[in-house]
Amino acid sequence: MKTVICPGSFDPITLGHLDIITRASKMFDHVIVAVLSNLEKTPCFSLEERIRFIEESTKELHNLEIVGFKGLLAEYAREKNAVAVVKGLRALSDFEYEFMMALTNKKLNPDLETVFLTCNSEYMYLSSSIVKQVASLKGDISNFVPTCIHDEILARLNKQ
Ligand code: PNS
Repeated sequence: MKTVICPGSFDPITLGHLDIITRASKMFDHVIVAVLSNLEKTPCFSLEERIRFIEESTKELHNLEIVGFKGLLAEYAREKNAVAVVKGLRALSDFEYEFMMALTNKKLNPDLETVFLTCNSEYMYLSSSIVKQVASLKGDISNFVPTCIHDEILARLNKQ
């Protein structure tokens, strides 16, 4: 059985993340969506909220495990017997950072591969930061986040 990890802050999950998770779930037997708990900057949404948003958005996918994690991804992958980390690549600007992380993870855990999926062209520009910025300025985020969590995200971010 091939287990992979889709790691991220998911603060909050976007349609771009959902696209990558969905495609990973079709490619691999078991997908661990690993939500980083010790973010460098304080997240807008708590770990519990970020996990719940992902759970609500991925109800139709039956080979997912959604968990919080802290510490080194390479170590976490070893504990979970994961063969690869799956990440979405948006623009070229993502590449340098993702390449650095992939090489670091490989150094720390030589058995761990990183698989990059090209993001859907519709989501080239999309990020959690964009969602937070647009929502806090009362813009329309309906094309950015899963419908089932849209109202809750908007209500929370509009309040801040
Ligand atoms: O959604 P993000 O913020 O781009 O996700 C970044 C994430 C969680 C993949 C990255 O920060 C990470 O793997 N953090 C765990 C700490 C770690 O292993 N660092 C060394 C790799 S450079």
